[in-house]
Amino acid sequence: MFSGIQPSGDLHLGNYLGAIKNWVDAQHDNDNIFCIVDLHAITLPQPPAELHRRIRDQAKIYVASGLDPKTTAIFVQSHVKEHAELAWLFNCVTPLGWANRMTQFKEKSAEVKGQSSVGLLAYPMLMAADILLYQTDGVPVGDDQRQHIELTRDIAQTFNHHYGEVFKVPEAWIRKEGARIMSLQDGAKKMSKSDPPGCVFLLDEPEVIATKVKRAVTDSGRDVRFDVERPGLLNLLTIYQLLSGSTRDQVEGHFEWQGYGAIKRELAELVV
Ligand code: TYM
Repeated sequence: MFSGIQPSGDLHLGNYLGAIKNWVDAQHDNDNIFCIVDLHAITLPQPPAELHRRIRDQAKIYVASGLDPKTTAIFVQSHVKEHAELAWLFNCVTPLGWANRMTQFKEKSAEVKGQSSVGLLAYPMLMAADILLYQTDGVPVGDDQRQHIELTRDIAQTFNHHYGEVFKVPEAWIRKEGARIMSLQDGAKKMSKSDPPGCVFLLDEPEVIATKVKRAVTDSGRDVRFDVERPGLLNLLTIYQLLSGSTRDQVEGHFEWQGYGAIKRELAELVV
């Protein structure tokens, strides 16, 4: 099992529920390698001192979340130069059209108003190198990484086709629930560090967490159900389900007859 997170911002509940928690839950069934992908982070400008701090915080959070450093390799991507070396080989076998199609490239490039670096375009080939270097079976990630893993599989198959069976073709391990935690302010947008009021950072103070959860935007319905038509409530119930380790039926039963205020109070406590 291989996965990584960019130290491009402080880690949040989306990173935890979409990725880290799944790494922790599966760590005893696999050989594990988890990376802090600093070379990916610098595809957008990063203040050096801030990046240094975040890399260290991220390593601490991996361990604090329950990854066992005795059985799990945790390392910084730039410390292993073969990641960048293999990425170069992949740059040379990947058609430009494949890279241009990546939705994350389009989104991030739009954020910097088209002034993106060549590195941002080459980002997915570095991610393919991360994964394929270790003959990885499974890559536990959130839903937003699905397309990058599809590309990784295409690169592995193309390379193997031309040069013989070199790389194992990996699979995305994406859980059905929690693969896309949404903003607390807008149930249609994924939780992301660029929207602090809608984002619970793992290092937020307890009072800040409680306030963000209590201010979460929900509709004005009454009954408590996991309902795609009510994305705000669905998101809160999903977070509750994952953190409490319950089933959907149990959560609905637990909150039956309770108002949204009560749900938020209890959820805030659980998240803290
Ligand atoms: P990154 O750094 O953006 O995100 C890290 C992990 O957190 C998940 N995630 C979420 N899951 C659920 N809900 C959300 N709101 C949410 N936001 C983020 C992401 O899906 C991801 O699993 N390209 C990768 C980093 C990377 C990588 C790799 C991952 C580089 N090399 C090799 C796996 C294997 C990225 O930008 O993730």
